[in-house]
Amino acid sequence: MSEDGSPFTDRAQGFVAVAPAYRRQGLGTRLAADVDRFAATAGVRWLETETLERELAASLPLLRKRGFKELERYQTSRQRPATVNLSRLDELRSRLRHDGIETVALPEIDGEQSRQELYRCQTAIWRDMPHEAHVDWQDPPFDTLIRSIFERPAVLLESFFVARDGDHMVGLSYLLRRPDGDAEVGDTGVLSSHRRRGIARVLKMLVTRWATRHGISVVHTDNRADNAGMLAINRELGFQPDEVVVIMEKTMATPAAI
Ligand SMILES: CC(C)(COP(=O)(O)OP(=O)(O)OC[C@H]1O[C@@H](n2cnc3c(N)ncnc32)[C@H](O)[C@@H]1OP(=O)(O)O)[C@@H](O)C(=O)NCCC(=O)NCCS
Repeated sequence: MSEDGSPFTDRAQGFVAVAPAYRRQGLGTRLAADVDRFAATAGVRWLETETLERELAASLPLLRKRGFKELERYQTSRQRPATVNLSRLDELRSRLRHDGIETVALPEIDGEQSRQELYRCQTAIWRDMPHEAHVDWQDPPFDTLIRSIFERPAVLLESFFVARDGDHMVGLSYLLRRPDGDAEVGDTGVLSSHRRRGIARVLKMLVTRWATRHGISVVHTDNRADNAGMLAINRELGFQPDEVVVIMEKTMATPAAI
């Protein structure tokens, strides 16, 4: 299951970590073997795990021995919202309005119809995020997705901005609260029919202004390293590159071969 409540198809994520003082005693190998066995019995076809680029030298020998190959990389980055120049926001926003695109905070338009629109827009955006062709998932049921936004304590609902073309929701961007008081970007996306009109830029600027006004000192995000569009917007809005997360994948043996 992804963190958004979408069940993966034939896929699972596994995590193995050993505290530095206990390394080089075979614990990582034993834990990884346990995870493998569990995944095989559960009928998992692809097993994912993640490591940091700066830890690859230590983790890669074990991962390779266990049959993992690199799947994708994510660039993490952080922004200090109070330092971002938002002087063009009102002008860019009214230019969009003039072209028929309204940008509003989600709570202002909440209702049955906008929730249906939100479901359609969010699930379409997930499908459009860069991913490998064999990585698949089922869209979560309507109620699960709506609960994961309106009832998840981490979601900062007031920071949730959407773009609408008439009643049709075409873009969104919002923040999640981190336990230490920082925030992280939940998702940002614009339907393919409405791209390159400056909608994502305005949505992220609105989110940045909200973060500044609410005293959030740091906003974190991560984007697939080949997501040129999102990385360009983030750079423009002051995000500074940080760690690179490497996702590794193992194709499990077919059940008959285990
Ligand atoms: C990334 C995404 C949100 C951009 O939305 P958008 O509304 O088209 O972006 P904007 O029009 O505001 O773009 C602003 C600037 O970003 C840059 N940019 C946007 N898309 C780009 C692309 N595909 N390639 C290169 N630069 C791009 C450009 O500098 C652009 O300015 P310009 O059009 O004047 O050249 C959209 O492509 C999308 O929804 N992708 C799928 C979902 C996704 O990957 N979300 C991020 C996951 S974390």
